[in-house]
Amino acid sequence: MSALLAPPLSLYVHFPWCVRKCPYCDFNSYTLQGELAAGPYVARLARDLEAQAAEVTGRPVVSVFFGGGTPSLFPPSSIAGVLEAARRHLCLAADAEVTLEANPGAVERGAFGEYGGAGVTRVSLGAQSFAPEALAALGRIHSPLETRRAAEELHAVGLSNFNLDLMYALPGQDRDGALRDVEEALALAPAHLSHYQLTLEPGTVFAARPPPLPDEDDAAAMLEDCAELLAVAGFEHYEVSAWARPGRQCRHNLNYWSFGDYLGVGAGAHGKLTAAERGEIVRTVQPREPRRYLAASPGELARNPVPRDELPFEFMLNALRLTAGFSLEDFSARTGLAASSVAAPLERFMARGLLERTSAGYRPTELGLRFLNDLVADFLPERAEMSGGFALSIAPAGGARDSLRPLFTGADTPFGE
Ligand SMILES: C[S@@+](CC[C@H](N)C(=O)[O-])C[C@H]1O[C@@H](n2cnc3c(N)ncnc32)[C@H](O)[C@@H]1O
Ligand code: SF4
Repeated sequence: MSALLAPPLSLYVHFPWCVRKCPYCDFNSYTLQGELAAGPYVARLARDLEAQAAEVTGRPVVSVFFGGGTPSLFPPSSIAGVLEAARRHLCLAADAEVTLEANPGAVERGAFGEYGGAGVTRVSLGAQSFAPEALAALGRIHSPLETRRAAEELHAVGLSNFNLDLMYALPGQDRDGALRDVEEALALAPAHLSHYQLTLEPGTVFAARPPPLPDEDDAAAMLEDCAELLAVAGFEHYEVSAWARPGRQCRHNLNYWSFGDYLGVGAGAHGKLTAAERGEIVRTVQPREPRRYLAASPGELARNPVPRDELPFEFMLNALRLTAGFSLEDFSARTGLAASSVAAPLERFMARGLLERTSAGYRPTELGLRFLNDLVADFLPERAEMSGGFALSIAPAGGARDSLRPLFTGADTPFGE
């Protein structure tokens, strides 16, 4: 047994509404019907922050992520209101990274300057593709021009630290099409690029009526081509689906992937908190449906202590997504378990060429990143039922969505944000 130490703390804030639900999306998001209840929702978030503050007294919040759904449907004054509440109830670090997710079709022209003024330091834009026919097939509400305009505006107001979300292996897309999307994205000079393979998620319109998609070999070739292009452009591949210019990794997501702590507020938001003094790690989940969340009292969130034998799996599920891997010291400090508890599977994976040693720990090899599912599944305890009731849902080879959805985090279920 090792001493459990409180890791860095982040804050995730979920906004569950969108202009229109996309047919591929299984996030906890809903087509907005009628007026946006911005005032009541922000007031509820503030009560949530107040209620959870006692559990993190004195701990600095190093990053905030406004995710969705479509947070950019909320005006800058709402975002300012949530940050004000966060400052009132928590210790928000002066240099905290504050990311806002924005849909290029659901952000007022000229609003980015005001979001910056409200305290946002980083933006994540859902570009998805620059091909009009692909955007139409995906049911997106914006044109490539709106994405370009949004990126230009971000540079103009000094928010150059922005991410573009792109998806590949889209309906009717070929290798050239996937490469062109990355080229178009790079032309907008983002600091970060998230590149997800389109996956058919259970319960979505696409799962019920799948569009014609490129096969897995084509998808793998697309990923390889795009990765080469990104490397040449000076982007570092630091997580299975994320590339960044040096020093521009998303600090918030890095904290998820390093098995850090986070408060989760908003409909369906998940949190993870380490109570070092009790030797316990607890997962929290808010009521998922927006109306229920609005009606519930802040104390009504579910709390599920993570059984000790699930900790290696939960740690690896996150840490093995990082190309730099993890240190054994962090493994012990963040799980409270001795490094010897995972020595046998780590050695097995080394022997199979899926992991390699670093000076402080281990990292996945290229092969390991491609077979992340196998790697992670091996850390599951020998029990059919797991406490969180989750499904193992990581797509192979760079397909895992994450920036928003490190597994078990954020706002979605059953596996994560
Ligand atoms: C919460 S959404 C992003 C923000 C905003 N709602 C938007 O769509 O513009 C997070 C990202 O997950 C990715 N995503 C969502 N569903 C996906 C799927 N089925 N397969 C792959 N990526 C997906 C998209 O790139 C999307 O931008
Ligand atoms: S992909 Fe984004 S815009 Fe589309 S439904 Fe999901 S959260 Fe909303």
